[in-house]
Amino acid sequence: MSAFQKETVISVKHWTESLFSFTATRDPGFRFQNGQFAMIGLEIDGRPLMRAYSLASANHEEALEFFSIKVPDGPLTSRLQKIREGDIILVGRKATGTLITGNLLPGKRLLLLSTGTGLAPFASLIKDPEVYESYDSIVLGHGCRQVSELAYGEHLIASLRDHEFLGDLMRDKLVYYPTVTREPFRNRGRITDLIASNQLFDDIGQPALDVETDRIMLCGSPAMLEELHAMFTARGFAEGNHSRPGHFVIEKAFVER
Ligand code: A2P
Repeated sequence: MSAFQKETVISVKHWTESLFSFTATRDPGFRFQNGQFAMIGLEIDGRPLMRAYSLASANHEEALEFFSIKVPDGPLTSRLQKIREGDIILVGRKATGTLITGNLLPGKRLLLLSTGTGLAPFASLIKDPEVYESYDSIVLGHGCRQVSELAYGEHLIASLRDHEFLGDLMRDKLVYYPTVTREPFRNRGRITDLIASNQLFDDIGQPALDVETDRIMLCGSPAMLEELHAMFTARGFAEGNHSRPGHFVIEKAFVER
C-alpha cells in the first residue's frame, strides 16, 4: 500500500495573491486529531512532491481542508496554487503533530496564537466540540501584515457563527482577535507585543495571563514562536509534548523556503 492516498479536489478559493485554501475528498480510513498535520502534495513526473500541511478541517468533517501560501518559485506551492476542482492531490496516510489538547494540562482558558497560515490548525480546533467542553473560554489571536490576509479567518468565524451545532458554543466561548501590523485596522501590532503589553487582554476585557488557568497553543513564523517561547517560559509556563503535558505547545507554520 502506498504511503499516500489519492484524493480529489472539491473546491479551491483564492483569498489574496499569496493565500488560498482548498478542500478535498477524505478517505474514510484517514483518522486524525484536530490540530494535527499531514504530508500532502502532488505527483510530479511520476514522483510524490510532499510538504507538511496542518489540517484546517475538523475530524468530524467529511472533506479535508487546507490553507496555504503561494510561493512563486516554491517547488510545491507554485504548482498547488493552480489546482482546480476535480484534480488529484496526494495525502499522507498518517497525521501527527503537537497541537493537540492532550499535550496540555487541564486549564480554564485556551489561547490559540498564530501568524499567517499558522491559523490552519486552529481552524480545525475551533470546530471541535470537545475544545469548548474542556475550556471556559478560547481566544483565537491571528496576526497578519495586511487586512486582506485576515479574510480566510474572518470567513471561518462568520461561518461558525451560523453553524447549527457549533454556533451557540462558539458565541459563548470563542473570542476572535485579528491583528494587523502594516496598515490601519482596529487591532494593530504584533501578537507578541500585544501579549507582552497586556493590550490583547485589555482589548477583549479578560484577565491577564495566568499560568494557573491559561493553556496556550502557538503556530506561526519561527521568530514569533521563539519570542513567545521565551516570554512564556520566563513567566513559568512549561512546554508540553506527547510524553509530558504542559502549559503550552508549539508548531511552526510550514512555510516553504
Ligand atoms: P511584521 O509586519 O511586523 O513583520 P509574515 O507574513 O512575515 O509571515 O508575517 C505575518 C505576521 O507575523 C506579520 O504581521 C508580522 O509582523 C508578524 N511577525 C513577524 N515576526 C514576528 C515576531 N517575531 N513576533 C510576532 N509577530 C511577528
